[in-house]
Amino acid sequence: MTAESGGVTSRDDEGSPTPGWSDVLESARSAPGLTRVRDLVRVCETVITRAGLTGFNSMGTPRKDARAIVFETLAISDHSDTYLDAVVTPVERAAVLDLLDRRVSGPTPVPYLLGEAFFAGRRFTVRPGVFIPRSALGLLLDDVLPVIRWSTPPRALELGCGTGALGISIAIRVPQALVDLVDVDALAVEVTATNIARHNVADRARTAVSDMYAGVDPTARYDLIVANLPYVPADRIGRTNREIDAEPQAAVYRPDDGLDLIRIALDESALHLADNGVLFLEVGVSNQAGVDALVGTRGRWWTLDGQGTGVVSLSRDDLKA
Ligand SMILES: C[S@@+](CC[C@H](N)C(=O)[O-])C[C@H]1O[C@@H](n2cnc3c(N)ncnc32)[C@H](O)[C@@H]1O
Repeated sequence: MTAESGGVTSRDDEGSPTPGWSDVLESARSAPGLTRVRDLVRVCETVITRAGLTGFNSMGTPRKDARAIVFETLAISDHSDTYLDAVVTPVERAAVLDLLDRRVSGPTPVPYLLGEAFFAGRRFTVRPGVFIPRSALGLLLDDVLPVIRWSTPPRALELGCGTGALGISIAIRVPQALVDLVDVDALAVEVTATNIARHNVADRARTAVSDMYAGVDPTARYDLIVANLPYVPADRIGRTNREIDAEPQAAVYRPDDGLDLIRIALDESALHLADNGVLFLEVGVSNQAGVDALVGTRGRWWTLDGQGTGVVSLSRDDLKA
């Protein structure tokens, strides 16, 4: 089979036609047998896959994208298998396929289409111009939070907060915690404030527009600082998965080796940590040599199911070493 990433029909080596994503989408609009939720999920997954989309910055996979497109359009908040055999009306089917078309034509990640991001078991408001939350730190929270030696009251900071999903998840899981969330981008801070109100933590969470630590409360000493900052070298613009183009470049790329903000975090975080405080940095796995040169033998690298996560934690003493 030839790879099919365009909207047109192609042919495999034997000359058999392989329908492109737009062929599949258009035929689905009038297919008489396409009447159940599971049929629509299947078509959505096929169209997304044929369009060559991985969904890595959307719902994670074409199947998860498909389920979100179908279930959210049908106003079914439970994305489990419960409704897979429910019948879909023609109007609902048209609405699902219209959203699917927008997903693939952009391509536009599902969270931007819905205005909803799904992170660490909760929903967060997101909008184009703000990074879609997907930090591996979200998957690690259950392991990380119990090992922090919290002060009274507990204090945490999210540096480069985007939607605030990570910091707000900490505020929700550590009930007394005071959490500061900062970002250099005013739109990100605005969306974070929306999410703080949405999750009812406004009495314990503060926001600020801040270039790294410049606008952070200098008197605060944090037990936990989390940071998923941009670290992809700018010379990779246009050479990474094109799906990333939907997101703001300033949230992803940095000049030169991409690691200038990581250097600042490593150099300046000790000043803002409590004695037992820990910095958790997400640095990805694509620039390990560059990161290793900065981190050296300090800290602890975190894994999930035996796989590297690109997350390293450093105590205040590690950072001062
Ligand atoms: C990869 S995104 C991560 C967002 C959020 N932490 C998450 O995991 O969903 C990086 C964020 O860092 C912010 N950022 C970029 N440069 C910054 C700087 N100099 N100071 C503070 N935040 C910055 C971007 O605006 C963006 O929201």
